[in-house]
Formats: sequence, structure tokens, C-alpha cells
Amino acid sequence: MKKILLTALCALTVFAGAGAQGDSKSLKEAYRDYFLIGVAVNGRNITDEAQSALVKKEFSSITAENDMKPASVHPAEGKWTWERADRVADFCRKNGIKLRGHCLMWHNQMCDWMFYDEDHKLVSKEVLYERMREHIHTVVNRYKDVVYAWDVFNECIADGGRRIGADGKDQPLRESTFYKICGSDEFIRKAFIFAREADPNALLFYNDYNECDPVKRDRICEMISAMKADGVPVDGIGMQGHYNIYGPSEEDIEAAVSKYAAIVDHIHMTELDIRVNQEMGGQLRFNRNEGARISGDQKLMQEAEYAAVFRVMRRHADKVDCVTFWNLSDRDSWLGADNYPLPFDKDYKPKNVYRVIRDFNAAADTAVIKDDFKPSATCQPRQQYPQVNSQGYVRFRVQAPAARYVIASAGHGGHMGGTVLKRQEDGSWMGTTLEPEDEGFHYYTLSIDGAQVVDPGTNSYYGGARWMSGVEVPAQDEAFYADRTDIEHGNVQKVLFPSHVNGNQLRTAYVYTPAGYEKGKKRYPVLYLQHGWGENETSWPVQGKAGLIMDNLIAEGKALPFIVVMTYGMTNDVVFGRPFDRNQVAEDFGKVLIDELVPYIDSHFRTVADRKHRAMAGLSMGGMETHAITLARPGVFGHWGILSGGMYTPEEIKDKKLVDYIFISCGEKEYPDRALKAVADLKAAGFNAEGYVSEGTAHEFLTWRRSLYQMAQKLFK
Ligand code: XIL
Repeated sequence: MKKILLTALCALTVFAGAGAQGDSKSLKEAYRDYFLIGVAVNGRNITDEAQSALVKKEFSSITAENDMKPASVHPAEGKWTWERADRVADFCRKNGIKLRGHCLMWHNQMCDWMFYDEDHKLVSKEVLYERMREHIHTVVNRYKDVVYAWDVFNECIADGGRRIGADGKDQPLRESTFYKICGSDEFIRKAFIFAREADPNALLFYNDYNECDPVKRDRICEMISAMKADGVPVDGIGMQGHYNIYGPSEEDIEAAVSKYAAIVDHIHMTELDIRVNQEMGGQLRFNRNEGARISGDQKLMQEAEYAAVFRVMRRHADKVDCVTFWNLSDRDSWLGADNYPLPFDKDYKPKNVYRVIRDFNAAADTAVIKDDFKPSATCQPRQQYPQVNSQGYVRFRVQAPAARYVIASAGHGGHMGGTVLKRQEDGSWMGTTLEPEDEGFHYYTLSIDGAQVVDPGTNSYYGGARWMSGVEVPAQDEAFYADRTDIEHGNVQKVLFPSHVNGNQLRTAYVYTPAGYEKGKKRYPVLYLQHGWGENETSWPVQGKAGLIMDNLIAEGKALPFIVVMTYGMTNDVVFGRPFDRNQVAEDFGKVLIDELVPYIDSHFRTVADRKHRAMAGLSMGGMETHAITLARPGVFGHWGILSGGMYTPEEIKDKKLVDYIFISCGEKEYPDRALKAVADLKAAGFNAEGYVSEGTAHEFLTWRRSLYQMAQKLFK
């Protein structure tokens, strides 16, 4: 979360002008090598200009939401109403989009007249079959040229527990009027046979909901297997996919697809939507209001669920030929816009989940996660989680037996902002990041039913304007900040200094003095080192490991011994989305630093109190503070360092003679080219400037640990 905020801050203040990534690639293009991307449409979707443009851009398959259902086209015996169905078919013909026929037979939206005679008594099964045959032949023949697949029968299997039939045997079929008339699954078999007679080329599907529920899944498998064994022409299984943000789990989806794939060669996800409440399936019962205010957690869980669905589907792309969203936008959804179920919002704008689905990382689909997880170096004594494996995957685990959901805010794949944990049988929640995390230290928090809490397994670190949890992914070069028992260590002490900038206050600073400081008489140069937005004076010495980095450098003779002073720099109210007010920062924090802290340090520690022996540097917002203060108050600090917080231009530095050294750095995943260009410009203008890019890291602490390691070797030399 902090990462995002900081990036936003930087983007707005330092890198203005960096264009947002274009949103041009469509879903159907992203999935071209996998399967068709479909959408269920209503009449408005294909007549309204903007909506039909969206349909054409994004989708390669269409299903009529209602217009081809039995009741829509065949309301009474001998009466056919084709207008709306024809409109969908014509739209597909005209635009070269494939059409899924939905549906030939269903107990809902059915031609109920088929079941009854003139006296409103149930007809014989022979009469019903004849009526079905006529219906199926007529509809299939009419759209033969454009429909490539039909949902022949919809929703025949019963939900939930076992139902015992009149014969005393387990009865998996729904108690529909079809079943009442026919007494077996013969009506389903007949429908497939009629459809195949009418069009030998169309793919014929059995379509159902709650299809990942293990009981229902197995009933579907048994029925379809038996039919196929008897030569009934079933080509595929349609998984409706009316899911919610709590499930089904990736494992259950995977198991269902695998089982279906063993029986049929074609799997379609026919009606995908993921609602934000807890209901599921096709029951047509839902609370349309629960989702009226969609929280960040709900969005994230929806993104995770969509990502899981598409991951499974991509893994089975050999059998999956189409994934269809049930409706174009939240506004069109049969669930109501408040259920927030689709990738396009009620204004037809793509949500973040759209990008999560589109911009997938194919490598993660089949990645094998090694089972060599070890407790993070940040774990509290005797705690086992979070853990990190040799590839950099992070695994979280927390006890929360009565929780409804748990999310860890680290471990985003692509556009996702966190890892959704899964309830375990013992009441704990566990989850592994979707992709390996970058090397180094990462902040995170847990959301347990929406309450933001620290993970009791790991230490807390100040960042994001609060104590957060931290996890450490071992870096290949971690030796430079390692705990070493073979060298002398310096001392980090807390000092309290009086400040009068905002009334009378005691302010805190941490002061690093090198090994041997206490014994000697020597005077030392001083680096004033600032943290980033939302951090405080503990951030550099604790997660930044500033003291250890200095100790190791000094012991190896790579850096001159010097003092490092780290104080709280959030004296200015930095507001995201507004330009960084350089003058205000120089005015407020500049006063604390230069008029209060520097004199305090010079009078309480053995310093060399002149410009050439004084440096200021900072990370992110601390870099911006460094920039503002060194420029506004030249002559105080001779050495200037900006770590992931912008750069200097030669033009803005008034007196070249007052600058002894400039260091500019950032992570490789930040803005390396512009940082190095700034350094080149400074050098060309005659400044003693150096740049550094931290390999493979972003706006995080490994970038800054490494930057300190590099910069410290150059200071005061
Ligand atoms: C729904 C439509 O979206 C609604 O507009 C209509 O009122 C009821 O049917 N399973 C199916 C779809 O197979 O046909 C249903 O569509 C949703 C559940």
C-alpha cells in the first residue's frame, strides 16, 4: 500500500509527464492463443452505439442473455417470435462474431405450454418429445449458419444433498416438469439427439451452475459419462460460473475442470460473474443491496477470484474454447449493479479487475513453488510465519478462527494489491504470494474482516504512517548488511533535542557513531539521513539497517568513519495528489534540521562542523526534502544525496562551488534512465556527481540499503 502511495507521490512531483500505460489491448486479443472471450448481451448492448462498440472491441463470442430462450422465441404452440433473436444473430453475422446458442431447453423461461394439453393436464412424454423436437429443429435450423455451439439443456441436476427417488435410489435430477413427465433422464438425451439431427456441425453442451461443488460436479460427470457411453451426442460441458468473492476455491475450480475434461473435449465457461456477496449459483435469490458500498477488500477478493478462474481456464486451454461473461457491465447484470460483478462498471468503464484478467502473467500459471519455505528473518521469537522460499515466494499464516476473510497486503501479481488467504481446517488462514517478491524488505498489513492489523508473527516496522508488518526476502548481496560477529560495531543512540518550530517540543533523532567513537578524541563528518513518507526516525536504523551497513563498510575500509543522524522529517503535511511544496518544506523542516538539529549535534558530538564534512541525503520524500533544503540553504551541506526521490538539474544549483558531491540513485524498476541522465547532465555541467541503479528492485528498502552502501563509500573523500 505504501509502495503505491509513494509511487503516486513521486509520479506527481518528480516525474510529471510520464504517460499512463495505454489501455488499447482488448480481452479477446489478450486471450487469442487461449480461448474465445464471450459476453451475454441484451438488446441495448447491440443497438446502442457505444455499447456495441465495446462488445465488438472486447469480445469474440456472444450469447443472447434472454432472446433465444424457449419462452422468447416460441411463446405458444405454432407461434414464433423471432425479432429479438434475429437481431442478435444479425449482429453476429454482420460483425463476424461467433454466436453461442442459449438455450434450447430449460425448466425456466420455458415454453410451458409444451407440458400441458388443452385441459391443462400433463402431456405424455411422447407428446412432449415431439414438441421438443419441433422446437429444437426449428430454432437450430434458423441459426445454423451463425451459431457454433448450443446449450442444449440447462440446469437438470439437483443442488445440495442426495435426494432419494420413488425407486428408493439416489436421484440426481432436478424435480422439473420434464422429469415429472418423463421419469428419467431420457428427455435430456432426446434433446441432444434432436439438436444433432438439426445441425451435425454445432457443438452441443450440457450447461449447469454450482458446477464446482463436488457433489453436483460428480453428478454431472456421472450423467454425461453414461450418456456418452450410450452414444448421446454431448460434445461439451458448460460451467455457468456464477461465483462470488468467497469462492469457489481455485482448487475446486481446477478439480471440476479436470473432471469435465476427462469426459468431454469441449468446456465453456458460459455465464461468468463474481458477485461481492456470499450467494452463489443460479438460484435467482440474492441481496441486491449488500454490495452498495464496495470496499477495497471486496474489490481485491473479486480480483483474486477472477484471476484464479482465468488461471485455471488458461491451464486447460486445450479443452476450454470459450469463457463468457454474463452481461456486458454491472449496469446490465442480472444481479444488479450493486453486486458489482463484472469487469466493466455501471458506466461501462473497465475496473482494475479488467486489467487483472487481461494482463496476466502466463509464467505464473504453471509455476512450481518449491517447498523450501523458512521463517522470515523478521519473525518474532518462536514464530514460524511469514515464511519465504528460495524463489522469493512469501507464505502468510495467521490464526483467525472466526474470521470471514483475511488478506495480506503484500504479494500482488500484476495489478493486484494483495494475497487473499484461505481458511485451513485448524482455523488458521494461509496464503502464498502469486509471484515471487523482489529481494529485500517489504511492508505489509493484514486485513481481517476489514480491520487493518499487524501480523503477530512478525516484527513491526514504521512505514505508511503507522506500524506495519515486515517480511524479508533474502537478497543475493545481503552480506553488506549482515550481522557480523567478527568486526567492531558502532552505536546507535537515541537523542532528544529541543525544537521550537511548532511550539516547544522535544524531538527525537537516532545518532550512529562508528566503532571506537567513545574511546577516541577524533572528530567526525556527519551525514543527515532522511526517511520516506509515512516513515520515521526508526526506519533507517531498523529496516534500513543503516548502522550495520556503516559498520561493515568501515570495518572493510571501504568508507571513512562518519556519524549518521536520522530524525523525523514529517513536519510538513505532504498531501498526495498535490505538488510537493518545496518552499514550505525548506521553511519548516529546514529550520528543524539546520537551525535546531545541526547545532545540537555539533555541540553534543565530536563533529567537524563545516560544509565539507556535512552531508544530507534522503529516500523518496526524504530525497525531496534534501533537494528542497540543500537548494534553499546552500553552504550548509557539501554532499547531497537523493535516493528514489527525484534529481537535481545543473540550472537550479546557483553556486557550484558550494557543492562537493552529488549522489542520485533509484531502483531498476523505478526511473533508472532519467536518474542516470540527470547525473550525466550534472557531470557535463562540471559537477562531481554519481549515479546508482539498484538491480531488480523498486521503491523499497533494498534499493535504499544498497544506495547507502554505495553513497557512503564516496562521502567526505
Ligand atoms: C438470466 C437472465 O440474465 C435474466 O435476465 C433473466 O431474468 C433470468 O435468466 N442461468 C442461466 C441464464 O442459464 O439463462 C440465466 O439468465 C442466469 C442463470
